[in-house]
Amino acid sequence: MARTGFDIVRSTNNRGGVDDFIPFEATMRAARAAGLPVGDYIDEVMNGTPGATQSTIDRLRALGVFAANPNTVLEIGPGSGRYLEKTLKECDPGRYEIYETAAPWADYLVDTFKVVAQPTSECSLAPTPDGSVDLVHAHKVFNTVTFLSASRYFFEMARVTRPGGRIVFDVMTETCLDAATMHAWATKGGPGHDSYPAAMPRQACVDLFETLGCSLEAGFQAPMGFASTEVLVFGKGS
Ligand SMILES: C[S@@+](CC[C@H](N)C(=O)[O-])C[C@H]1O[C@@H](n2cnc3c(N)ncnc32)[C@H](O)[C@@H]1O
Repeated sequence: MARTGFDIVRSTNNRGGVDDFIPFEATMRAARAAGLPVGDYIDEVMNGTPGATQSTIDRLRALGVFAANPNTVLEIGPGSGRYLEKTLKECDPGRYEIYETAAPWADYLVDTFKVVAQPTSECSLAPTPDGSVDLVHAHKVFNTVTFLSASRYFFEMARVTRPGGRIVFDVMTETCLDAATMHAWATKGGPGHDSYPAAMPRQACVDLFETLGCSLEAGFQAPMGFASTEVLVFGKGS
């Protein structure tokens, strides 16, 4: 199959506009052929945004997100692990949990980085206890899933974060949607992915997390192909 350009991949529930994450075998092979780590290959070659992952990590470091050396980290939808790998260069958590629906990528991350893959079901973080995580994050996930999926995860992210912990995620807010960008999406949006990208109102996020005891500390733009998402950083009150 591989010779004909197809991979057989194990797929689990991956609800949202984009049916499956990029294929594991083919992506790893292409990254190897390009002589790049898979995260850099995705940034540079697939997305045309070299250094994008590192620039977000740099901004988070400058905001003090890693300063307290979070001991427990949880990431939703790590995919290839491009943010995971760089997060592990910034801090040394005793436990790093992932919730990832694409099984081959989850297996790869468990093998490579010794993270703990939790079962994904209905956008719940049920296996993770209340108030147990120092840093909960997700990158380029909530613009690929439905409004309901993102909303369900938001409640869960606030629940599992410990008082004093941080929540970091990006969403495609109105700050990412000027007329030129909307025109670009309308004309270049990928065929077959009609529900991608998914937008999320910024104020709704801020207000929701406020009711859940989490205050907005910062927001900044992060590149996404020809467009961007907005990274929001919340702190949960002690
Ligand atoms: C666009 S990719 C981003 C991957 C990675 N965070 C990155 O930036 O390279 C979205 C990721 O979310 C995962 N995903 C989709 N639906 C999910 C769900 N309901 N729960 C957890 N992960 C999900 C996909 O398998 C994929 O790995």
